[in-house]
Amino acid sequence: MHFSTLFAIGAAVSSVAAHPGHHEKLDYKELTRRSGVSKRCESSAAAMNAKRWAKHQEKRSLAARSNSTVVITTEAPYYETLQNDTCVLTPEVTTGPYIWPRSQTLRQDMTEGQAGVPLYLDIGVLNTETCEPMENVLVDLWHCNATGSYSSFEGLDPNTPFATLLEEMNITLSGGGSLDLHTGDTTFLRGMWPTDSNGMMEMKTAFPGFYVERTIHIHAQVHTNWVVRDNGTIVSDSTILTGQLFFDEDLSEQIMALEPYASHTQINRTTNSVDSIYAQEYAGSWNPTMTVVPLDGEDVTKGMVAYITLGA
Ligand SMILES: *[C@@H]1O[C@H](CO)[C@@H](O)[C@H](O)[C@H]1NC(C)=O
Ligand SMILES: *[C@@H]1O[C@H](CO)[C@@H](O)[C@H](O)[C@H]1NC(C)=O
Ligand SMILES: *[C@@H]1O[C@H](CO)[C@@H](O)[C@H](O)[C@H]1NC(C)=O
Ligand SMILES: *[C@@H]1O[C@H](CO)[C@@H](O)[C@H](O)[C@H]1NC(C)=O
Ligand SMILES: *[C@@H]1O[C@H](CO)[C@@H](O)[C@H](O)[C@H]1NC(C)=O
Ligand SMILES: *[C@@H]1O[C@H](CO)[C@@H](O)[C@H](O)[C@H]1NC(C)=O
Repeated sequence: MHFSTLFAIGAAVSSVAAHPGHHEKLDYKELTRRSGVSKRCESSAAAMNAKRWAKHQEKRSLAARSNSTVVITTEAPYYETLQNDTCVLTPEVTTGPYIWPRSQTLRQDMTEGQAGVPLYLDIGVLNTETCEPMENVLVDLWHCNATGSYSSFEGLDPNTPFATLLEEMNITLSGGGSLDLHTGDTTFLRGMWPTDSNGMMEMKTAFPGFYVERTIHIHAQVHTNWVVRDNGTIVSDSTILTGQLFFDEDLSEQIMALEPYASHTQINRTTNSVDSIYAQEYAGSWNPTMTVVPLDGEDVTKGMVAYITLGA
């Protein structure tokens, strides 16, 4: 079997199209097709749910990081089944300039001590051809910390507009080439984990903050035919989905009022309604906004589970 490296995939996509204000749009026909698939799979997902007993798992001890072999003792996700009401098709919008496969490692807790409200991402992956859950596909996640910085890119000021950053670095965006802006090799808030037999995976992290020009978001990719290297990075020959996941404005507002988010005052936060990528992901009839429930059933500021179903 042929494996090209994930790094190569990342490098290929993080070219000009990675500019936050410059990305390719899906055409209307494709958007319409995806909306149709989303609708079609909604009832399949619901039927699948009906067959399974739903059980909310309160206790969650996360599996230790598995660094060499894929010993996947997946802890049960909070939702044991795919959520039928969020049958989402995420278009292949920009991976953004902060994709960095070299720092993505296999684990179920990618917090690494970063401050912020505890967040469990429960993600289901559905095959939109068959409307069946996809088992053992790798969900790859990365996002910025509470004050807007990405690991491996800590040298870049999250408050400086992207175009200015490029200017400062004497980088001219010219089609084709890859854009490598990394400044280090830290790995916080980056992680990957495969889906279980129900097509579900869970990742613990800390609620993201924001950086210049972008609404709060989490990057996601789904890979198939993957193997893990000794150093924890992966090799995959196929990335079947690339997208960004969002939160409701009301929730973001509530969380951003807390420390350490609240101390990020150097820039005003870009909201969903004016974020270009949010608009693009919403352009179909699908929903890239995660559904959130408080961990303790009452107070999201103490921690939450966010769930979403991705259609691949
Ligand atoms: C999805 O599930 C919800 C409750 O869990 C239910 O109210 C709704 O009717 C379901 N949707 C479909 C399409 O069955
Ligand atoms: C995996 O992690 C364990 C515990 O951190 C460590 O002892 C071991 O050497 C690691 N193995 C590899 C191949 O990196
Ligand atoms: C992991 O190993 C691969 C292949 O040897 C290498 O290209 C990559 O840079 C390594 N990544 C890290 C973070 O060590
Ligand atoms: C986010 O990361 C940056 C870069 O490492 C760091 O300076 C900042 O303190 C971090 N934010 C928080 C809230 O820890
Ligand atoms: C960018 O180019 C200018 C003019 O050539 C130079 O003075 C400056 O040091 C360069 N900056 C970097 C980060 O290379
Ligand atoms: C944020 O927006 C307010 C209202 O438009 C404005 O007064 C303020 O200067 C802005 N702050 C920053 C840091 O841009």
